[in-house]
Amino acid sequence: MAERTFVLLKPDAVQRALVGEVVGRFEHRGLKLVAMKMLRVSRALGETYYAEHKGKAFFEPLMAYITAGPVVALVLEGDGAVALVRRMMGKTNSSEAEPGTIRGDLALSIARNVIHGSDSLESAKREISLFFKPDEIQAYTRIDESWLRE
Ligand code: RTP
Ligand code: MG
Repeated sequence: MAERTFVLLKPDAVQRALVGEVVGRFEHRGLKLVAMKMLRVSRALGETYYAEHKGKAFFEPLMAYITAGPVVALVLEGDGAVALVRRMMGKTNSSEAEPGTIRGDLALSIARNVIHGSDSLESAKREISLFFKPDEIQAYTRIDESWLRE
């Protein structure tokens, strides 16, 4: 099976009408969209999802941010998808993210940085199962697949 990664378009992405722009970048790059849903992250889900940051100074602001409005969760599939999505996102602190990256083109700060993407294969597995049931992930062939690689 091709590598899968998890992406969350954070509440600022939805509020700023950036969902289509960001999903489009992944589709156009050749990553396959295999799951997508809109939801509201509860405090409980937020704490589980960002458990690694519990106790840090930015944890409470992070909880307020991630639960502030609807988000869009995605699963993307493709060769090296985890690292590729991280590169396309740019640095966590949007003010330092390179132009051409999602954060570098669409965001200004670390605390409102539009997008999350899994940072490893293990995180991807954990995060996908936190947001999606197995039967919510689609297996299909994209019509352009034979034109994306040799
Ligand atoms: P993410 O988990 O959201 O994909 O972001 P990341 O790996 O690039 O960064 P991470 O270190 O995991 O931080 C998680 C999210 O917490 C917020 N944050 N705020 N105010 C701050 O100093 C601060 N540091 C991190 C950001 O929303 C970051 O994406
Ligand atoms: Mg992270």
